[in-house]
Amino acid sequence: MEIKSAEFIISNTDVNKCPQHSMPEYAFIGRSNVGKSSLINMLTGRKGLAMTSATPGKTLLINHFLINKQWYLVDLPGYGYAQRGQSQREKLTRIINDYILERPQLTSLFVLIDSRLEPQKIDLEFIEWLGENSVPFGIIFTKADKLGRSRLMENVNKFLDTLKEQWEELPPHFITSSLNKSGRDDVLDYISSINKSL
Ligand code: GTP
Ligand code: MG
Repeated sequence: MEIKSAEFIISNTDVNKCPQHSMPEYAFIGRSNVGKSSLINMLTGRKGLAMTSATPGKTLLINHFLINKQWYLVDLPGYGYAQRGQSQREKLTRIINDYILERPQLTSLFVLIDSRLEPQKIDLEFIEWLGENSVPFGIIFTKADKLGRSRLMENVNKFLDTLKEQWEELPPHFITSSLNKSGRDDVLDYISSINKSL
């Protein structure tokens, strides 16, 4: 799929103030610093579209980006940033959960997983919560450039094997690097195929 246009539309903390439209939305969630905003920039080919930082906790709002005037990418705050105080963490959790549960336009959520790490409890619990709430999702492994091929596949397979203990069928999954753009076509083709099926 060719990205002809990518426009920032609005940021907010309230799902009720998100843009009113009937286009599909694809949102990115995952631990703080996993690479959600970088992935949006990589997919759209627009470097500064979503704000990124080496320090966790950069994205604190729901950010809507209109793509090809036909569908939206949504950048969400990260979960599980321990440095933050409890009240701020609870506020972020509410923003994220409200968007995920109360946004009819949300067509598929992508859960980003750092490909360098062993399966993390916080990610597995979050995915379990998605299942309990019947939220359609896919998995995107990030930062694939940081590992050699065999270590990468070892971690990816370990994560998928852990999921298999709970899920009869694995969700769609992708391996990406925002640095070298690997996985870009796979993710965009997947989005495109869903858009066509709607
Ligand atoms: P929050 O908004 O804080 O939740 O973080 P985020 O998930 O949006 O992460 P962000 O995109 O801001 O990236 C965090 C850091 O990881 C930045 O320093 C990025 O440059 C780096 N990063 C993101 N993706 C990749 C990748 O694919 N490869 C490498 N090497 N670094 C990456
Ligand atoms: Mg971010």
